[in-house]
Amino acid sequence: MRSTGYVCAFLFLCAVNCTTGDGSDKREERGVVAVSEAIDHSNDSVKDFVNSQIDEGRKTFRYDTFGDEAFWGDTLQLHRAIAGQANGGVGGGVSPRTALAVGLKVDVDALPHDLRDALAAGQVNLDDPASTLALLKVNAVVGVTGVFDQSGKLSSMGIQCALCHSTVDNSFAAGIGHRLDGWANRDLDVGTIVALAPDLSVVASLLGVDQNTVRSVLVRWGASKFDAAVFLDGKAVGSDGNPHPTLIPPAYGLAGVNLHTWTGWGGVSHWNAFVANLEMHGKGTFYDPRLDDAARFPIAAAQHFGHISTPPDQDRITPKLAALQLYQLALAAPKPPTGSFNATAAARGKALFEGKARCAGCHVPPLYTEPGWNMHTAAEIGIDEFQAARAPDQRYRTSPLRGLFAHAKGGFYHDGRFATLADVIAHYNATFTLGLTSTETSDLVEFLKSL
Ligand code: HEC
Ligand code: HEC
Repeated sequence: MRSTGYVCAFLFLCAVNCTTGDGSDKREERGVVAVSEAIDHSNDSVKDFVNSQIDEGRKTFRYDTFGDEAFWGDTLQLHRAIAGQANGGVGGGVSPRTALAVGLKVDVDALPHDLRDALAAGQVNLDDPASTLALLKVNAVVGVTGVFDQSGKLSSMGIQCALCHSTVDNSFAAGIGHRLDGWANRDLDVGTIVALAPDLSVVASLLGVDQNTVRSVLVRWGASKFDAAVFLDGKAVGSDGNPHPTLIPPAYGLAGVNLHTWTGWGGVSHWNAFVANLEMHGKGTFYDPRLDDAARFPIAAAQHFGHISTPPDQDRITPKLAALQLYQLALAAPKPPTGSFNATAAARGKALFEGKARCAGCHVPPLYTEPGWNMHTAAEIGIDEFQAARAPDQRYRTSPLRGLFAHAKGGFYHDGRFATLADVIAHYNATFTLGLTSTETSDLVEFLKSL
């Protein structure tokens, strides 16, 4: 009976509001707005729930280590390399200047006023690792948590999702500003940071090589990339002798998208559980028997990575997954700044995208990926299958394209093989013999920049 009431309200309001001679689409939109206005919002438990989940999800995304300090600190001893010998660790330590150079970001909103003022006045020694410790103490290094003992010594450290999937707006200085959650940190050199860890024996024995080999591969990953699959299949390098890490993708603009990661491992929540357990080494539970395939995932199968379990009272990941997923789905792709593209050319590019260039067949607007099973073989998009073959479905996922402008650094496609959007289009132009002229290519580029 309730629904009949809404239908009546719809028809009634529409009759009142829709006599302006607008097109029928407009009428329908007005009708919907009118009905939602007719709902009593004073006790909206759905919105209250969503708001509280978003707060919780944001907290998890930014600050939760899921207990992974047991790995990054206690096992790898990475905190000791950061502190340096002068501060109770080993080696020269990591100064703020070095930290910023390897792409770590500083959250200006976490800085106490005196520290902010000192930074602004150039009174903080950016070459002293002790200054890095001061930033860690106030929890200002995005995605990294320092654990300090009672004497104030850095005794362990953990990492968060925000390490790779947040950056800052540089409003204070380069690398220092307000957080931008969901933005891929394309400055971050994960491999170089991990290679600093004094004890990589766990990783070395997992991969069946020595620590020096691990380090030499890690430093070749390069900025903006990470190899999540190496800990499953042990393919530290391909047959060409080179490592094959993938680009850190944005974690925004994902609502409505079915499969996630470049190779479509699963939905957002699958991948969150995967990463928190297997890559960050938090304490939780993960189930994915596809990893039992010893021929394809020798390491994962031998280590039973698809069957990680932690008693519920000690599981620090599973209880966070619901809110964490909701938070990511709520992160809209950022809008390109005005003036960053030519609107007239972009309008022509849109027509090409949906017409002659045949892009919209896969990148279906407004999601810009397929509603449904959004996966393609390497042959379908005219590239090699190396990375696709490292994932269960052996395919590449059609990338959603909104907010491309915010992750142009590092290039495009899963491994950044195309340095620019024009290079991407040149690839399609050749693969699908589209016959696009250079003007049409640049119109398409302007359209992609406008998304
Ligand atoms: C060390 C860097 C790093 C950390 C930490 C990290 N990720 Fe990722 N993330 C990546 C990389 C690299 C990929 C791409 C993996 C692939 O496809 O090969 C990825 C993929 C994703 C995707 C898929 C995006 C898409 O376009 O479909 C999501 C969602 C995601 N991560 C969320 C998270 C969350 C949530 C956390 C914390 C629990 C997290 N990540 C921690 C590097 C990281
Ligand atoms: C057959 C399906 C298909 C068609 C047609 C297609 N794409 Fe794609 N597109 C994909 C897939 C799959 C990927 C992911 C490739 C990868 O991960 O390496 C992708 C990736 C991209 C990317 C890189 C996104 C990123 O985050 O790096 C851009 C840009 C892009 N496509 C634009 C286009 C344009 C423009 C056209 C039309 C000229 C087009 N695509 C046609 C399937 C398609």
